[in-house]
Amino acid sequence: MAGSSLAGQVAIVTGASSGIGLATARELSRAGARVALVARRREALEALAAELSAAGPGSAAALPADVTDEAAVERLVREVVSALGAPDVLVSAAGVGALTPLGALTGADLDRLWAVNARGAILAARHVAPLLAARGRGTIVQVGSVSALRGWPGGTAYVASKFALRGATECLRAELSPRGVRVVHLCPDLTDTGLFAAAGIALTGGEALLAAEDVARTIRFALELPDGAELSEIVMRPVRRA
Ligand SMILES: NC(=O)c1ccc[n+]([C@@H]2O[C@H](COP(=O)([O-])OP(=O)(O)OC[C@H]3O[C@@H](n4cnc5c(N)ncnc54)[C@H](OP(=O)(O)O)[C@@H]3O)[C@@H](O)[C@H]2O)c1
Repeated sequence: MAGSSLAGQVAIVTGASSGIGLATARELSRAGARVALVARRREALEALAAELSAAGPGSAAALPADVTDEAAVERLVREVVSALGAPDVLVSAAGVGALTPLGALTGADLDRLWAVNARGAILAARHVAPLLAARGRGTIVQVGSVSALRGWPGGTAYVASKFALRGATECLRAELSPRGVRVVHLCPDLTDTGLFAAAGIALTGGEALLAAEDVARTIRFALELPDGAELSEIVMRPVRRA
């Protein structure tokens, strides 16, 4: 959209092949950003890159990477700089869900959720942050969850990963704020995405759900605030329509 402060900015969006990341990539491209699309599924990213570049006004590049692989994350950041330029924005929306009662929980479950939801988002921020800090501006949006604020039955692996990410995000902000970089922790409640099917979780159909597009609009809103203003933590809940 003409007049957006995001026009011409370089934004890295992880989790861009689906759900909140995909909707965010579309939203930022509509604002005129040049978007690096990151996830593991190359074909989905390439189809989205073609869609966004054709629709404009922004452009997009498909840069597949697994955020659990630190070398791949480092390589990704170098590829973004050479393909699109130095990043202004990182939105970490790569994530996996799980619903596992305590009696069935394994160390492997804990490791898998930790690797993507916490370690992956922390490492992406760690490798993008120096480029933002060097220019004294930019924004990192960590897509957390209301599960970073409260627990629920069967949520141990997921909730632990999201509480961990919240703690790391507080540290990130403490280090980066004095260097002019904003850090946003976004906590959506249940959102209508592929997360549940991918994790084998059956919704009842009676739940109130946020739309991924509304989460994406919220991310855009936070990014379009003047550089001197930060929405540090955002909690989003669905409102059941009468
Ligand atoms: N849906 C909800 O109710 C909800 C609520 C609160 C917070 N969240 C959070 O929102 C974020 C996005 O989730 P979503 O709901 O949009 O789920 P989704 O539709 O399943 O999307 C998850 C994305 O993460 C990517 N991904 C997974 N593992 C990855 C890895 N190792 N490396 C790179 N990318 C990876 C997936 O792409 P590939 O498979 O192509 O890699 C996909 O693009 C997650 O952090 C989730 O915890 C979701």
